[in-house]
Amino acid sequence: MEKLMITGGRPLQGTVSISGAKNSAIALIPAAILAESEVILDNLPLLSDVAVYSEILEELGATVAWEGSQMKIDPSSIKSIPMPNGPVKKLRASYYMMGAMLGRFKEAIIGLPGGCNFEPRPIDQHIKGFEALGATVTNEHGAIHLHAKELRGNKIYLDVSSVGATINIMLAAARAKGATIIENAAKEPEIIDVATLLNSMGAIIKGAGTETIRIEGVSELHGCRHSIIPDRIQAGTYMIAAAATRGNVLIDNVIPKHMEALTAKMQEMGIGIEEYDESIRVLGAPRYEHVDVKALVYPGFATDLQSPMTSLLTQAQGVSVLSDFVYSNRFKHVPELVRMGAKIRVEGRSAIIEGGHLNAAKVKAADLRAGAALVIAGLTVSEGVTEVTGVEYIDRGYDHLVSNLRHLGADVWRQTE
Ligand code: EPU
Repeated sequence: MEKLMITGGRPLQGTVSISGAKNSAIALIPAAILAESEVILDNLPLLSDVAVYSEILEELGATVAWEGSQMKIDPSSIKSIPMPNGPVKKLRASYYMMGAMLGRFKEAIIGLPGGCNFEPRPIDQHIKGFEALGATVTNEHGAIHLHAKELRGNKIYLDVSSVGATINIMLAAARAKGATIIENAAKEPEIIDVATLLNSMGAIIKGAGTETIRIEGVSELHGCRHSIIPDRIQAGTYMIAAAATRGNVLIDNVIPKHMEALTAKMQEMGIGIEEYDESIRVLGAPRYEHVDVKALVYPGFATDLQSPMTSLLTQAQGVSVLSDFVYSNRFKHVPELVRMGAKIRVEGRSAIIEGGHLNAAKVKAADLRAGAALVIAGLTVSEGVTEVTGVEYIDRGYDHLVSNLRHLGADVWRQTE
């Protein structure tokens, strides 16, 4: 078992460069299935989820060459092979295999996804979308079976503006007959990234990034080269870590526009923020004000930064209320922070956080962002060593975490038992 060991209390200083977005990458890789020739993805993050996805594509018959931050995917030999089990079970985002395989082969058998299970995460809106396009969808022994004689464009109103459903419907509709309109579509930057890739492959998608997306189906898509957007959640995590340790860090290779909800909250707390074209500097201060935060769909405050933000709010004066309106119970980090001495209680969708000192403790990451929260908390504690287990979750979303933090002056190391 691996764990992260942290001796905190050192202000983070220096520059950190952000890699490509995980939640884009794990949609862009399956999107390549829809092409008939080579797709090259640049600025790919070095993450376990990306490795699993390359394994899935190879199992289907694709040739995948992954070198550094570039992946070349030749999908020309892909076959429609059922995948009820195996690597698809390791990933949440394996649901994108449904839209991609349905788009290319009009059939697919994909095991229900795994990944971070911080609460029930239904895929009813994905299925509603596939059915509206003419597919028959059944759940047989934990695997989703999809089949369509042909896919036909349709108007689909999403009951919740789901990132996954929006992307999955775009994937299937890109090669359907006629026009598909997604209403109440999610507006996250990763959706624009996927639409940009698909359009470079020859798709006709308009309106990505707004609540109405129009997809004009085409019969064939071709290869292309695409550079993945920077990971706004990774960037936000380092911004929060810089502030929590009262450091001074330049976060490089970011799109400052994607960070607006976080920068606004950090400024409200009294944290210094300097924005440049592709970077943001975070300047810590001795005292932070308490704030209330509501995690919402984009462009609201990202739910994926809710757990790291909890750790930062333990460093503020007074009582902050942090509510999550995307997930109803994403608070697995709270009991662990309480073990570190934090004064937090959860009431319904909200965590009520009273600022104060934290202590070193042995804690366990129960999901990816909970893990990030615990690492940040550990970085604030100057006495003793904080031990974080559940590192495999953290590795799903943060490449080079230890080396990046060490480069910023943190005393962090991995230990294998
Ligand atoms: N929802 C439904 N039905 C559906 C789909 C979603 O009720 O068919 C609900 C969910 O239960 C949730 C809300 O809608 O309450 C939003 O879920 P969404 O579908 O947008 O989330 P997702 O696509 O499953 C992606 C990211 C998550 C991120 C969310 C929200 C991937 C693989 N995952 O999940 O990332 O929290 O969007 O931005 O892209 C993470 O990176 O740590 C992570 C969990």
